[in-house]
Amino acid sequence: MPIHKYIDLRSDTVTLPTDEMLEAIRHAKLGDDVYREDPTVNKLEEMAAAKMGKEAALLVTSGTQANLVSLVSNTQRGQLVILESESHMYWYEVGGISTIAGLLPWPVKSQYGVFEPEQIDAAVRPKDIHFPEPALVCVENSHNRHGGTVVTPAQLQAIHEAANRHYLKLYMDGARIFNAAIALKVDVKELTRHVDNLMFCLSKGLGCPVGSVVVGSNEFIEKARKVRKVLGGGMRQAGIIAAAGIVALEKMVSRLQDDHENAKRLAEAIAKIKGIQVDLKRVQTNMVLLNTSGLKVDDKFVLSKLKEKGVLVSMMGKHTLRMVTHLGIERAHVEAAINAVTLTADEINECVFT
Ligand SMILES: Cc1ncc(COP(=O)(O)O)c(C=O)c1O
Repeated sequence: MPIHKYIDLRSDTVTLPTDEMLEAIRHAKLGDDVYREDPTVNKLEEMAAAKMGKEAALLVTSGTQANLVSLVSNTQRGQLVILESESHMYWYEVGGISTIAGLLPWPVKSQYGVFEPEQIDAAVRPKDIHFPEPALVCVENSHNRHGGTVVTPAQLQAIHEAANRHYLKLYMDGARIFNAAIALKVDVKELTRHVDNLMFCLSKGLGCPVGSVVVGSNEFIEKARKVRKVLGGGMRQAGIIAAAGIVALEKMVSRLQDDHENAKRLAEAIAKIKGIQVDLKRVQTNMVLLNTSGLKVDDKFVLSKLKEKGVLVSMMGKHTLRMVTHLGIERAHVEAAINAVTLTADEINECVFT
C-alpha cells in the first residue's frame, strides 16, 4: 500500500510498482527513444499494438497526454468532438481539448456512460456556415465518473456505425480497457476492433509507476509521435518506463478480476448501510460510487470521519464518494473499509437522528 497508514481507496493511480517491475526497470536495455533507439520502448509499443489488434503504438507520459495527443492527431483545430458528458476528457483534463487542441467539445448525456447511436445522429447538424465541422466521436471504457461501467462490443459496433454514417472517426479513452475486457470476459480486441484508435493506461490498475499508450494505424501513430514531441513528451531513455509496462502487459491483466470481486463485496455490504445508497448496476469493474445524501451531512465531514478510521476515499460530486479497488488492496482491507463506513454512518446517523 502506498501510504502504509491508510487503506487508500481514492484511485487505482496510487499503486506502486511490483518487485518484478523494479527488477525489469533495473535491467532494461535503453537508448534514445526520440531517435527510436530504445529497444525496451520499441518492444512495449509492438506488444501493445499486437494486443490491441492495431498497426502501431506510442508510449506517452500520462492518460491526459494520451487523450490530448489523440485529439490533436484525429482532428483539425476548430472542429467539433462528440463525447459523453461525464467523460474524463470533458471533466478532468484542464480543458486541453479547447485550449490546446482548439476543439469544441459537444457533450452528450447518458445514463450509464455510453450514449445511443441515435444521439450521435442528433448531435450532427446539417452542413451550415454557422456550425463547426464535426470530426470525432469519443467513448470511455470503462467509464470513470459513471462508476467504472463498461461499454460492450455490441454498443461499440453500433456507435461505430453511427460515426461512419457521418464520416466521423471513433476514439476510445480506454484508460481502464483491461478492466472492461475482464468484466465482459472478452479479448480486449473485441473492444478495440470498432474504434479507429484508442489509448490505455499502464499506471492505473496495471500497477506501473508512469505511462500510457496510444494505439492506432501507422499513419495515425506517426502523426501522434510528432504531436507528442510538440507537447514536450519526447522522452529519451524511456525504456525505464516501458520495462514496467512490459511486465504489466504480461503479468498484471488477469489479476484485475480480484479488484472487481473486491469492489463487488464492498458495494454489496455498503449498500445495506443506512443513509448510503449504492447503485449496484454500476458496480461492473473496480469502482464503487456511494451516494451519501441520506447521511445529511457535508461530504468533507464523511471523508474526515473515514480518514480518522484509516480509510481514504475520493469525492466525485455533491454527496458522491468513490472507492476504487486495486493492486495492494486485499480482502482484509476491504473488510476493514466496510467496518469503517459502517461505523462512520452509525456515528452520523446517531447525531442526526437522535
Ligand atoms: C478515464 C480516464 N481517462 C484518462 C485519465 C487520465 O490519466 P492520467 O491521470 O494518467 O493523466 C484518467 C485518470 O484517472 C481516467 O480515469
